Amino acid sequence: MTIHLAAFLIAGNAAHSQVLWRHPQSQPGGFLTLDYYKRIAQTLERGKFDLLFFADRLAVSTRFGGDHRYGLAYGDQDATRMDPLPVLGAIAAVTSRIGLGATRSTTYSQPYSLAREFSTLDHLSAGRAAWNVVTSVNQGEADNFGLRETLGHDERYDRADEFLDVTHKLWRSWQPEALLLDADGGHYADPDKVNPIDHRGTHFNVRGPLNIPASPQGGPVIIQAGSSHRGQDFAARWAEVVFGIQPDLARMHRFYQDLKSRAEKFGRRPQDIKVLTAVMPFVAASKEQAEEQRARHNAMVDPAVGLSTLSSHMNVDFSKYALDAPIDDIQVEGMQGLFKLVKELSREGSLTLADIGRLYASGVLVPQVAGTAAHIADWMEHIVAQQGADGFVITPAHLPEGFDDFVELAVPELQRRGQFRWDYEGDTLRSHLR
Ligand SMILES: Cc1cc2nc3c(=O)[nH]c(=O)nc-3n(C[C@H](O)[C@H](O)[C@H](O)COP(=O)(O)O)c2cc1C
Repeated sequence: MTIHLAAFLIAGNAAHSQVLWRHPQSQPGGFLTLDYYKRIAQTLERGKFDLLFFADRLAVSTRFGGDHRYGLAYGDQDATRMDPLPVLGAIAAVTSRIGLGATRSTTYSQPYSLAREFSTLDHLSAGRAAWNVVTSVNQGEADNFGLRETLGHDERYDRADEFLDVTHKLWRSWQPEALLLDADGGHYADPDKVNPIDHRGTHFNVRGPLNIPASPQGGPVIIQAGSSHRGQDFAARWAEVVFGIQPDLARMHRFYQDLKSRAEKFGRRPQDIKVLTAVMPFVAASKEQAEEQRARHNAMVDPAVGLSTLSSHMNVDFSKYALDAPIDDIQVEGMQGLFKLVKELSREGSLTLADIGRLYASGVLVPQVAGTAAHIADWMEHIVAQQGADGFVITPAHLPEGFDDFVELAVPELQRRGQFRWDYEGDTLRSHLR
């Protein structure tokens, strides 16, 4: 058994933790510099991670309080997000094996330009590109791209299905042997092996072919994190990696079973989709030290930051609701799966809106685990054995050194137990995921 490991990043001030930029161990403003990403990526590659990936959104928060000023003043999850693709281009130059994932939206991109971006990254990284497909739920994003409002739920996924169909056709538009490079004969490529795609659809008309030869992986690894029924069907149809946030084993298991059981409907095998569940680990030489690290992180949390991020995720202004009341009768248009979880947790723990804000600011709803390497490895082993996940998305509490303890302590423990690779076996990201 090999546990798969991904790292969660945002090319900005936060990760799931919105305390990250204020954490005393974080490098102030480092997230705007290349050295910061280089340091992180090289640590993760030393730890033999399958991939690192950047989440993304295309607007600062404007929902909370109906204004951009709150999220920016607090430094919430959307206060700064640089474009992940140029960052990955730079990381590709200083790493050689780790997979490189970027989020791009099907609502606010065009298939032709997106196919070029990921084909380019796949060439330059020698087969390590991944695309986290999102459909975008947030009004701030609509406002930046000339839409009066965000697309309706089903329309988002109709467009996304057609988008994936078109990009896959473009990535296949050059047969692998089409590039001849016959310098003596003067034959660059064999035009019979490069085909227009002539796509005529509801949302896109694309002639093709792509203006880039077939890339090492033939197309990026597809990642997805939809949580509605339609979103999970979309994942079961297209995704090779599915990323989830579930706070406990029972929920992880339900999510895992649900997703894998949908695969067959789309002619795929359950093992073709790797489900990775998010966790924020605090690893130290003793349990007490790890708990101390966790407490230090969580003590910095301000509920308003979390509510600003929650407003952005759910596309609802939570500044309008009472902080000391429960929240279960609010209807949202945004990330419905995550909101269902918010409501369940609120009911189960009798949490108020302020409590939820605090929880959200400390790491959205990602579970935290604090302990020694053995403790963390036990936790991970148990979840994988109980089919709660095929692996984990590790989310940091501070950066750029926030993965160091995990790589130096927990990874060797997993390796000694035969749960994780000692070294990469293949060169491409897709080969790591086997
Ligand atoms: C773990 C996780 C990570 C996500 N990352 C992003 C992201 O980086 N950018 C984004 O716009 N949406 C992101 N989303 C939102 C999803 O793509 C999706 O729109 C949302 O979960 C709502 O599900 P639905 O579209 O199936 O209703 C994420 C969701 C989850 C659960």
